[in-house]
Amino acid sequence: MAKLKTTFFCQSCGNQYAKWQGQCTACKEWNTIVEEVIQTPEKSDWKSPISTVKKATIPLKIKDIDASNEIRLDTFDGEFNRVLGGGIVPGSLTLLGGEPGIGKSTLLLQISLKLPYKTLYVSGEESQKQIKMRAERINPSNNNCYILTETKTQNIFKQIEVLEPDIVIIDSIQTLHSDYIESSSGSISQIKECTAELIKFAKETATPVVLIGHITKDGNIAGPKILEHMVDTVLQFEGDRNHVFRILRAHKNRFGSTNELGIYEMQGSGLREVSNPSEILISKKDEELSGNAIAATLEGMRPLMIEVQALVSTAVYGTPQRSATGFNAKRLNMLLAVLEKRAGFRLGAKDVFLNITGGINVDDPAIDLAVVAAILSSNEDVALQKDVCFAAEVGLSGEIRPVQRVEQRILEAEKLGFSTIFVSKYNKIALKNTLIKIQLISKIEDLVGILV
Ligand code: TYD
Ligand code: MG
Repeated sequence: MAKLKTTFFCQSCGNQYAKWQGQCTACKEWNTIVEEVIQTPEKSDWKSPISTVKKATIPLKIKDIDASNEIRLDTFDGEFNRVLGGGIVPGSLTLLGGEPGIGKSTLLLQISLKLPYKTLYVSGEESQKQIKMRAERINPSNNNCYILTETKTQNIFKQIEVLEPDIVIIDSIQTLHSDYIESSSGSISQIKECTAELIKFAKETATPVVLIGHITKDGNIAGPKILEHMVDTVLQFEGDRNHVFRILRAHKNRFGSTNELGIYEMQGSGLREVSNPSEILISKKDEELSGNAIAATLEGMRPLMIEVQALVSTAVYGTPQRSATGFNAKRLNMLLAVLEKRAGFRLGAKDVFLNITGGINVDDPAIDLAVVAAILSSNEDVALQKDVCFAAEVGLSGEIRPVQRVEQRILEAEKLGFSTIFVSKYNKIALKNTLIKIQLISKIEDLVGILV
């Protein structure tokens, strides 16, 4: 028997070593270097099983390269198209990451079922029966979607050669293995090799390939960082599993911007595209309740009206509790300190709970003013008017700071029928003749004066 050939890989960054060592010299992580068996077959040059002759490439002047009629395949899913930058590019590799159970398989199966092209959905995780059951829930009538349960890349390519699909979906890259490498599925060398084979296939046949990738505990895509460098687009599917909303973002996109955002709602019959998120995120109430305020935020390029709820109550125990869902807890503490110091509210002995509805995490600093308004409203137990909203950052000295792209926020608020929006005095607003009243404020005391 041939002697096994092994090398050592860092499981964190994918760096390769000839012998074991405690710390990876590339990424400085400890105890991440693991021995993996690699075996190159007798004929080491990998021949593509796809019998297409690669075009010889010659250098061209950049002005002579024709990119005008760049074609994109429509995925027939508005949100997915938007995040990709207008559809999927032939020959591209897209990686979709996300927590287990978030709906990655559901999303891609749903898209495969909607496509009018010949789609091959390769699953290494579920049986054909399981996938059929899931498909029945989503969309039972489709004749163009083929399901293959296989994990060996060479066998997958054999089937592809026969079927000639227009798009290939792999669920998931961590379950694949190639005969050319001997280590187990999911190891660094396997992931690298399988991805490289798929890239070669995609580029040579101009077939788009979408890969599902698992993520690690800390939210990164499992496997080497190099995987993210190899693919053209990295998408992240996120959300709170106990809530119905799911957000699709692009972390890397060679064919479009990474600022776009797609929103879905998980239903009994698959994922529904949410094209008017603001209307759904704001609960429609007839009564005015204290502690609620609406923020005009931006998620990527997309304006999103979000409801902030605060509850301020007297602390029963010595140390008051502060808890925030969907909002940075440190930032909440900072805003409470500003309210105490600059506006004279004695919140030091109060419990403060904050919640962003819809299970969404907000990083946009423009939500600050709505958070402050919700806290004040709950503290005084006076409800804010239903049709006011807020878009400004609050600084440490209690100043109301301007936010980026304020016009877009104002227009969204106007579209949704708000009558007043509070923004910073220092924002330069070029809008004229708006129906909505733009209330300019410069200090936190101004807000207190108006609201309380
Ligand atoms: P799944 O797509 O299997 O997640 P992933 O591939 O990311 O691990 O996610 C499935 C979850 O979604 C599962 O817990 C059940 C739920 N679900 C629905 O609520 N409605 C549906 O129509 C489907 C197919 C799944
Ligand atoms: Mg899955």
